[in-house]
Amino acid sequence: MTVALADLVAQYVSIKDEIDTSIRAALESGRFILGPAVADLEQSLSDYCGSQYAVGVNSGTDALLLALAGCGIGPGDEVITTPFTFVATIEAISHVGATPVFADIDPATFNLDPEAAAGKIGPRTRAIMPVDLFGQMADREAFADLAAEHDLILIYDSAQAIGSAFNNKPIGAFGDAATLSFFPTKNLGAYGDGGMVLTNDAACAERVRRLRFHGSGGDYAYDAVGYCSRLDALQAAILSVKLRHLSEWTSARRRHAERYRQCLAETGLTLPVEAPGVFHTYHQFTVRSPERDRLRAFLADAGIQSGIYYPSPLHVQPAYKDLGYAEGDFPEAERACREVLSLPVHPDLTEAQLEHVCATVRRFR
Ligand SMILES: Cc1ncc(COP(=O)(O)O)c(C=O)c1O
Repeated sequence: MTVALADLVAQYVSIKDEIDTSIRAALESGRFILGPAVADLEQSLSDYCGSQYAVGVNSGTDALLLALAGCGIGPGDEVITTPFTFVATIEAISHVGATPVFADIDPATFNLDPEAAAGKIGPRTRAIMPVDLFGQMADREAFADLAAEHDLILIYDSAQAIGSAFNNKPIGAFGDAATLSFFPTKNLGAYGDGGMVLTNDAACAERVRRLRFHGSGGDYAYDAVGYCSRLDALQAAILSVKLRHLSEWTSARRRHAERYRQCLAETGLTLPVEAPGVFHTYHQFTVRSPERDRLRAFLADAGIQSGIYYPSPLHVQPAYKDLGYAEGDFPEAERACREVLSLPVHPDLTEAQLEHVCATVRRFR
């Protein structure tokens, strides 16, 4: 038996008729960039995520970039974030001309530690950008307090956390903005690239809307140096179909996570912790083991794929050496990189596959 980390073909087959119909309608509409399909998706996603505005862009990376630019972050500003994330988080900060400033993570949740972030606030700090890693929202209360106390902008990288909630409030209800990614393996994945900026600030939404379209409203008048970053209608048509299934897929992920908790309880692995008040959507089910690499090889021998997110923290990457960090600066992020292993938790796992993973991990010595 083989068990993949994601099975996008199985998912497509399960909703093929709906997807094919929606794609055909988009093709027959003749509107391929933005247009009604994108507007419909923006409306459904702002409803789903609890934000007043949603602006579709062409990737999760660009959603971060445009959210930062839309909130007025630029050269000379510092943005505090985590070194234990996908590189896009800090790429976006660098591309608007600001400087990423790292703070260590909370080892229990893998998310940016609010206290560590507080310790990094200085005279040039303009924003904090926590990441909702693996489907678990960062501490909304602590970061809201910190931002209010120091008058900082708060942008959440929620690329991995669509459907999550904090004290029963969804991701779009917090901060100045939150961003989504529709990378194909995300919980809501396109068949290509896509992203979205969620905000409750009308001025920010309008700026992002113009920035994604060369800094204009389509009238050849440009009030800002913009980008070409529009969501296309085909992806929107696909995502609108998939959004109808998202809650059911999230429930499946949560059921699989629960089964892992039962069957892996005695294995000595550190299982993911759900922080109080957080509704975790298990983009990844990430365990920790000091024997991570041996466990990974053992799983691979049994036909089971696993993932390492992330093998190396961002503060030691050559591309960011000018930031001046060194190995040892963020011990929890570094330890996480040595110990984490993500097990298959996607919604299309069969019971037999899930039990095969459980039995294999339990056999590991
Ligand atoms: C935490 C995080 N931020 C940003 C991104 C960037 O999204 P995209 O690949 O859609 O550009 C991703 C995913 O790829 C991500 O996981």
